[in-house]
Amino acid sequence: MYDLEQAIQDRHSTRMFLTDKPVPVELVNEALALAMRAPSNSNIQPWHVVLASGAARNRLVAALLDVAAVESPNVPVLPESFAHKRRELGALVYGSMGISRDDKEARRLAVLRNWEFFRAPLAGIVCMHRDLDYVDAMGVGMFLQTLLLALTARGLSTCVQVSIAGYPDVVREQLGIGEDMRILCGLAIGYPDTSFAANNIHVPRNAVEQNVTFVDH
Ligand SMILES: Cc1cc2nc3c(=O)[nH]c(=O)nc-3n(C[C@H](O)[C@H](O)[C@H](O)COP(=O)(O)O)c2cc1C
Repeated sequence: MYDLEQAIQDRHSTRMFLTDKPVPVELVNEALALAMRAPSNSNIQPWHVVLASGAARNRLVAALLDVAAVESPNVPVLPESFAHKRRELGALVYGSMGISRDDKEARRLAVLRNWEFFRAPLAGIVCMHRDLDYVDAMGVGMFLQTLLLALTARGLSTCVQVSIAGYPDVVREQLGIGEDMRILCGLAIGYPDTSFAANNIHVPRNAVEQNVTFVDH
C-alpha cells in the first residue's frame, strides 16, 4: 500500500500533462471511492464532481479558450495584504518556465493554459449545492484533498484550479450543470510531462508557528 506521508509529500500541482497518456478509469474510480470517506457536516457529503473526458472535455476546453480570449475570468480578488503570496508563487512558477516578470505576453499564454486544464485528458469540475454554506465548503475541501492524495498514490498528477470557476456559465452550458450547483473549482487529472520544469518545483510553506498557535494558560 502507498504510504500516506509519501502521498502528502509527493502531491503537487502539475501544470503540463501528457496529452497522449489517458487516465485509467478504474484508478479514478478507486480514488473517488476513497475520497467519499471524507468527513462532512451532518454527513451531507456536499461535493458534486463532474468529470469530462474525450469529446466532452475537448468541447469544454474550446469554449473556455474562446471566452478567455475576450473576457477576464470572474475569480475572487485577493486582498492586498495577501497579494504578495501570489507574487511569490508567480515568480517561482513562471520563473521555472523561464518567463520574466515583465514578459506580459509569455505570462498571458501560460495563464491561458489554465483553461486547457494544462492539457490534462481528464477535466473535473468540483461543485457544491447553492443552498450550502462555508462549513460545507470545508467538507468539499476535505473530499478534494483526499481525492488528490488517492490519485497521487496511484501515480496520477493533478492541479486544483479556481480559474475554471471564473467562467461558470460556459462550464454549465458545456456540461449541463444546473443553476442549483455552485461551481467551486476545476481539477486537472493526468500524467505529468516531466520535461516541463514547472512540474518539478516544490512550493515552500510557512513555518508551522506562523499558522498555528498553541494556548495552554
Ligand atoms: C482552491 C485552489 C485553487 C487553485 N487554483 C489554481 C489555478 O487556478 N491555477 C493554478 O495554476 N493553480 C491553482 N491552484 C494551485 C495552487 O497554486 C497550489 O496548490 C499552491 O501554489 C501550492 O503548490 P502545490 O500544490 O504544488 O503544493 C489552486 C489550488 C487550490 C487549493
